[in-house]
Amino acid sequence: MNMKIISGANQKGGVGKSTFVAHLAYRALEKGLRVLLVDMDKQGSLSLTFNASNKSGLVASMLFSDDFVKQPAQKVAENLFIIPADNKLLAIDKAENTVIRNPAKALKQYGNDFDICIIDTPPLLGIRLMSSLAASDYVVTPVSIGLYEMAGVADLIQTIHVIRTQGFNPKLKHIGILPMKTNNRSTREQAGLQELKASYGDVILNESLPERAAVKNAVDEKVAVWHKPRGGSHQKAAKEWIAACDAVLARIK
Ligand SMILES: Nc1ncnc2c1ncn2[C@@H]1O[C@H](COP(=O)(O)OP(=O)(O)OP(=O)(O)O)[C@@H](O)[C@H]1O
Ligand SMILES: [Mg+2]
Repeated sequence: MNMKIISGANQKGGVGKSTFVAHLAYRALEKGLRVLLVDMDKQGSLSLTFNASNKSGLVASMLFSDDFVKQPAQKVAENLFIIPADNKLLAIDKAENTVIRNPAKALKQYGNDFDICIIDTPPLLGIRLMSSLAASDYVVTPVSIGLYEMAGVADLIQTIHVIRTQGFNPKLKHIGILPMKTNNRSTREQAGLQELKASYGDVILNESLPERAAVKNAVDEKVAVWHKPRGGSHQKAAKEWIAACDAVLARIK
């Protein structure tokens, strides 16, 4: 039993959760780890990035069943397996709260097969997010800077607190808030970042990921940002993403 589980979580949509989670996987693979991905988001971003099919075999909604029977995850590359998103995930948020603990139990059965399990969560404070946190050893929170984006952080921190203190998962550790899609030239954003630091100082990671065209290109090409960097801005993005992924992976013991 050595598999560690980490979720990328923020109920705000479009902050870069799936992008970051995919990069954690790329980086973990480069470090020789055996990686299991779980796509809890019906949108299936992670499943798309890694060309997973949800037509047959194990899919994420199955992890919520009371009598889950272990079956192989889908192999998408050497050392990389995925439990893809499927249509039945939407119904899970209407299920009873009692299923919240089921994915933790199901994923435990893969403890000897992988070194790290990385969960992408939906932009919704519902059962799938709660159960991802209940299953995780760690959670990392990508947050973009802005009035609407920052307003949700308190709710997420509260949810993490509930998961820890109400018997779901006392061992859950918050690796921290990762400022995403930042714009270093904007004084308004710098002020926003300062505000975030004033409210949540300790939990904000030193690394941040500026908004760069190279990131979106890499996502579209389904490669890591640091894959064959061309030009100065791309090279900067490559360095930033490696640093952020390494900082997060270094916290996983
Ligand atoms: N640092 C960045 N610079 C530029 N674009 C970025 C950056 N980070 C993420 N993006 C882009 O932002 C968009 C949203 O990212 P992503 O899908 O990862 O967010 P998400 O939080 O997973 O969204 P959802 O809540 O819908 O699941 C994508 O097009 C992605 O390529
Ligand atoms: Mg996503």
